[in-house]
Amino acid sequence: MLEPREAVLRMAPYSPPSGGREGKLRLDFNENTVGCSPRVIEALTQYLTADHLSIYPEYTAALHDLAAFFGVQSDEFTLTNGTDEAIQLLVNTFIDDGGDVLMMKPSYAMYKFYSQLAGAAVREIDYPSDLQFPLDDFLAAIQPSTRAILISNPNNPTGSGIGLDAISRTLNKAPHAAVLIDEAYFEFCGVTALPWILDYPNLFVSRTFSKVYGMAAMRCGCLFSSAENMQWVRKAQSPYSVNALAAVAARAAVQDTEYIKQYVADVLQSREDVCRGLDELGIRYFPSQANFVLMYLGDRAIPIRDALRARDILVRDRSYEIPGCVRVTLGTRFSTFRFLADLERLWKT
Ligand SMILES: Cc1ncc(COP(=O)(O)O)c(C=O)c1O
Repeated sequence: MLEPREAVLRMAPYSPPSGGREGKLRLDFNENTVGCSPRVIEALTQYLTADHLSIYPEYTAALHDLAAFFGVQSDEFTLTNGTDEAIQLLVNTFIDDGGDVLMMKPSYAMYKFYSQLAGAAVREIDYPSDLQFPLDDFLAAIQPSTRAILISNPNNPTGSGIGLDAISRTLNKAPHAAVLIDEAYFEFCGVTALPWILDYPNLFVSRTFSKVYGMAAMRCGCLFSSAENMQWVRKAQSPYSVNALAAVAARAAVQDTEYIKQYVADVLQSREDVCRGLDELGIRYFPSQANFVLMYLGDRAIPIRDALRARDILVRDRSYEIPGCVRVTLGTRFSTFRFLADLERLWKT
């Protein structure tokens, strides 16, 4: 048997979602519960010809349209194979073996995954018990040797956000580090650092088509920074990591702004409904700025997760990192209603 690299031996393994999620009410991975705009399906269907599939991807049209949509120049971002590739690219471009990488705990698992894979030295700052971003502790942890800072805003799984003032203080305290603000859930909170990419030479922002756009299967995202930084990132990126169908889908998705607006409005309404429903049941939860809510079910967390699953409703147990907590994705009001009705029945028995 071959020995892998030391960094691979040391990494904590990650288990991706299990299979068999189709046909169920999927409130476990913060996806869009009703799927993408019909315009995306139409564009993909039209694109699916043998001729198109025989050609290596060309990104010019997608870069043009997405630059206009996001209000940046086409050399100020790159298309990525999901946010996951954006994280990996940032780490691979800027972090040497043993480099200091700072992140929150708990946060999105892939920050630690790709940092460890690259052989970086990961430092995690714990959220306090109210799960609000501990700005002073975080700023104090930044060292002159820190090479990257990976922040999810709002954070998964806590749902809590970090305001623009806190982001700017972080950027100012770490001029030598690549600072990623991962805005996977931006549409549900409205706070963005994207307009600052020209003001802060150490700022990177990522967005994804996996969440509000309902295209998790396509694996498409964007990584933004100054053109100077992006030239290094593009140099480190494999030339065809985003497939042509994903680029076609992303172009179509940003054209249907009405669809996204409507879905965001549904989710925000669901957020209120779920919080009210949990209040009525006497279940504690953490205020969220994203399309999910983390609720405290105590020692009933796993039994309730399992009982919901038996009724074809999937939610995500997080008690391995925040004891007693389960995360539920917010979707349309219909999905919220079904979830709350079943939760109430289970909670009261
Ligand atoms: C904070 C955060 N970033 C990124 C992602 C994944 O994004 P993608 O599907 O674009 O790789 C997730 C998914 O759960 C997430 O919670």
